[in-house]
Amino acid sequence: MSKMMQAAQITHYHQPQPQIMTIPRPTMGPDDVLVKIQAASVNPIDIKTKNGGLRMLLKYDMPLTLGNDFAGEVVAVGAAVQQFQVGDAVYGRPQKNRIGTFAEYIAVAASDLALRPTNLTVAQAAAIPLVGLTSYQALHDVLALQPGQKVLIQAGAGGVGTIAIQIAKQLGAFVATTTSARNFDLVRQLGADQVIDYHTTDFSQVLHHYDAVFDTLGGSSLEQAFKIVKPGGRIVSVSGLPNERFAKAYGLPHWKQVAFRLASRRLTQLEKQTGVDYEFLFMRPSGDQLALLTKMIEAEKLSPIVDKLFPLSEIAAAFNYSHAGKAHGKIIIEMPE
Ligand SMILES: NC(=O)c1ccc[n+]([C@@H]2O[C@H](COP(=O)([O-])OP(=O)(O)OC[C@H]3O[C@@H](n4cnc5c(N)ncnc54)[C@H](OP(=O)(O)O)[C@@H]3O)[C@@H](O)[C@H]2O)c1
Repeated sequence: MSKMMQAAQITHYHQPQPQIMTIPRPTMGPDDVLVKIQAASVNPIDIKTKNGGLRMLLKYDMPLTLGNDFAGEVVAVGAAVQQFQVGDAVYGRPQKNRIGTFAEYIAVAASDLALRPTNLTVAQAAAIPLVGLTSYQALHDVLALQPGQKVLIQAGAGGVGTIAIQIAKQLGAFVATTTSARNFDLVRQLGADQVIDYHTTDFSQVLHHYDAVFDTLGGSSLEQAFKIVKPGGRIVSVSGLPNERFAKAYGLPHWKQVAFRLASRRLTQLEKQTGVDYEFLFMRPSGDQLALLTKMIEAEKLSPIVDKLFPLSEIAAAFNYSHAGKAHGKIIIEMPE
């Protein structure tokens, strides 16, 4: 069996597109599992990483294999691994310093993996880890949504939004969401109670006294969100500016804490003016939380939305499609057989 594999790599930031390279397969530590990847999803973070947009938070050596989540099959387990066996069908989101899922193989910590749902295709399973964990952590861990509470989920038709709407409904919330009119049926089927066409309607004019906002847009949309949340309510953003609290908790050096304090001072001012709490979320890998998502999916309480499939050889086209920002649900890369 060849010890080489194909992988989509960059050699420097701002490279126009990743290139398919032939590189050695990864080696495993005692707590790792080697997975033959069958499918991986494209996330906006892949393009941000390629363009060096996350250098304040993440430092990578070059060449770098891109890709942040996957579904595949276990082909080897480290000496200390007990919970997985060769042949297990798994999915996962590796640690941020061990990314590289646009490749035929990955070595990943067993604690970042879960058995994948038996009622999904491998492409559907690959659509879950990053956006599923992000949505669960935003809605359950940070917002702690309670039955009957009202939440706005921005960009309901996107990769995060399509999962977040379903999880918020599971938590018993009333869900408003924004999207284009062509996606109204999709977000309603997922459970959205109130749908706003962001091209024609300003959400901050029509929503009032909300308990929470899950912001996936950042910028002025995030600032507008403070207008609709009750005092004591919460906003979590995955696209807005990290603030000083986040920078400290994330363990960034002092100069970066100061830089984020200055950059996010408008948000801090809005927190003070409105009595609304603002949190930036940088999602974290978790095999345990993925196992919870597997249960929800097998109980048919959550299902992924797949928009388009691309072979690994067409990763540039997949990146262009993602970058256009019009995906409904997830874009999936399929690995060679
Ligand atoms: N911090 C973290 O840990 C973390 C984790 C996951 C994602 N994120 C970030 O979250 C963002 C969303 O990720 P994603 O995977 O959901 O992206 P995505 O799938 O590429 O989002 C595409 C969707 O965004 C919608 N959209 C674009 N502009 C909109 C607007 N102004 N109002 C409402 N909807 C709008 C589009 O709907 P239309 O076609 O109707 O325009 C499309 O459905 C990205 O910036 C990503 O980097 C961060």
